[in-house]
Amino acid sequence: MKDWVKKNYKNRSFAGELKSKIGQEIFLYGWSFRFRDQGGVIFIDLRDRTGVIQTVARKENIGDDFKLAEMVRSEYSLAIKGKLQKRDESAINPKIQNGGIELIIESMEILNSSKTPPFSLDEFDESGEDIRLQYRYLEFRKNDLKDKMILRHKFIFELRNYLNQKNFLEIETPILNKSTPEGARDFLVPSRLHQGSFYALPQSPQIFKQILMVGGMERYFQVVKCFRDEDLRADRQPEFTQLDMEFAYIDQEDILFEIESMMTEVFAKVFSVNFSKPFPRMTYTEAMESYGSDKPDLRFGMKLYDVSDLVKDSDFQVFSGAITTGGVVKAISVKGGAGISRKEIEDLTAWLSRDYRAKGLAYMKHGASGLESTITKRFKPEVLDAISKRVGSSEGDMLFFGADKKSIVNASLGALRLKLAEKFETPNPEEFHISWVVDFPMFEVDETSGEISAIHHPFTSPSDEDFSYEDSVEVIKSKAKTMRSKAYDLVLNGTEIGGGSIRIFNQSVQQKVFEVLGINKESAEKKFGFLLEALEFGAPPHGGIAFGIDRILMLMTKSKSIRDVIAFPKTQKGTCLMSDCPTPVDEKQLGELKIRVVNL
Ligand code: AMO
Ligand code: AMP
Repeated sequence: MKDWVKKNYKNRSFAGELKSKIGQEIFLYGWSFRFRDQGGVIFIDLRDRTGVIQTVARKENIGDDFKLAEMVRSEYSLAIKGKLQKRDESAINPKIQNGGIELIIESMEILNSSKTPPFSLDEFDESGEDIRLQYRYLEFRKNDLKDKMILRHKFIFELRNYLNQKNFLEIETPILNKSTPEGARDFLVPSRLHQGSFYALPQSPQIFKQILMVGGMERYFQVVKCFRDEDLRADRQPEFTQLDMEFAYIDQEDILFEIESMMTEVFAKVFSVNFSKPFPRMTYTEAMESYGSDKPDLRFGMKLYDVSDLVKDSDFQVFSGAITTGGVVKAISVKGGAGISRKEIEDLTAWLSRDYRAKGLAYMKHGASGLESTITKRFKPEVLDAISKRVGSSEGDMLFFGADKKSIVNASLGALRLKLAEKFETPNPEEFHISWVVDFPMFEVDETSGEISAIHHPFTSPSDEDFSYEDSVEVIKSKAKTMRSKAYDLVLNGTEIGGGSIRIFNQSVQQKVFEVLGINKESAEKKFGFLLEALEFGAPPHGGIAFGIDRILMLMTKSKSIRDVIAFPKTQKGTCLMSDCPTPVDEKQLGELKIRVVNL
């Protein structure tokens, strides 16, 4: 290797920082991105983390190294010494980075050759995700992933910076853990020293952050990996990163205020997106009633309207029958949707019945003389007028109806609303709508088994209006269906990006809530004894929130999948295609753990 190569690692210049160096001799290190051999002159576009610069090998400048330039192929690792100069007027390309300059190579070295990459590293590449995940290191050389990683770094850096200024301490909590109750399945790690016992990877640092409040740390945060063994979707990974926070001596209003300040400042700085404060708020009930979702996308309307009172006495049995049996009839109006074909409606109906248990999808077109459909004759004209008025329809719109139990109607029309918005009320991709959903129910009561579970998690405080400290377990159970909690979610463009709550800080209330959830004293002691005991040592009132960093970045970079903003993500099947995990382990390792794998 030539002498100058190693000597100038520390003096290297970067493609992204060349403007001021015209006329100077500089040293560049990077990869050959593109190359063109025009006989006698070879152009090599050299790429490093900061960008690309055209370098030029001419025999008269480069001498014997011209033969090295001739050997260069895609993605060779190169060291180049040369003089930076302005391009000839005719060769200037103002559209690209460094389009006005080029480096005249005086000496070069091939540091390493490269196999031909399995996919192209330019912006036109459309190869499948599997191959890109398998060769993730090559994908980092592409602008798309590289820019996302830079933005991710900046976002996390600015969050830390902000929180540091606001007196928060970042404190690490264990990864080898006892199970935490966030509602998903745990990933388990067998203990070698305690045969038959297992650690659980944390679904979140929930209990530890509460313990830190009892310990007087006052304001905690952590950028932390969480692990949940659940079915994966476009916005879910088994291993994801939270910005986790907890505050002592705080009430819900204070938390919402503090978070709004943080989000506004950091989003403006990192994403150039300006939110106005205070963020809009909606209760859980309102979100479910009007949008059929607890994370409503508020960039467009198409609200769900209850029309039960209007149609309850109609001749249309599907509607009147649903109401008689305790259900509801709701409608949405699709702006400009009158052209949706019968075939499309059939497909939508089949989808809603398969995925949302809807029994059908009644519809009416708003034509020149009002609502029209095969079913309109079953309704009095004044009822049709009243329906149209309620949903705000006009000529050219299409109305869809759901008639069933409220939960089915909300879920199916909520899903339909999102699907139809893709075509009819397409949100502006530059719009970022942030809002709170508050007043979540405390519990979910299973309709058939009557089993009670926590909507957020079992440490969430019931709301003051619905609960008093004296309430017995039986009283709480009797109110379970209607009791609200001090839980809140932050929603961005229809995705839940954060969720938190004010916690129970009184040991006996926590004990009672466990009992309501079917966790008896003995099992509560076993699972959460350390928290229950900690609450007895002067625990302060406290609360917090956690944000999905990956989800936020997915939305802000308009990525299709959460995988696009994670350096080394898992596939939909929970595998890593690059390292090929999970894999079976050898007998010796299993033997040390006293574990035998059996085929069931
Ligand atoms: P929660 O379970 O709501 O709350 O999680 C907080 C946020 O984490 C993100 N998130 C995920 N992101 C990617 N993949 C996943 N599998 C995944 N699961 C959750 C979401 C979500 O809003 N301990 C509580 C917080 C608290 O009460 O303070 C908790 O973890 O954006
Ligand atoms: P039917 O009388 O069953 O032929 O249904 C007439 C129309 O009502 C069809 O468009 C069905 O898709 C629709 N429909 C049936 N059941 C429901 C329901 N539970 N909710 C909404 N629409 C329904």
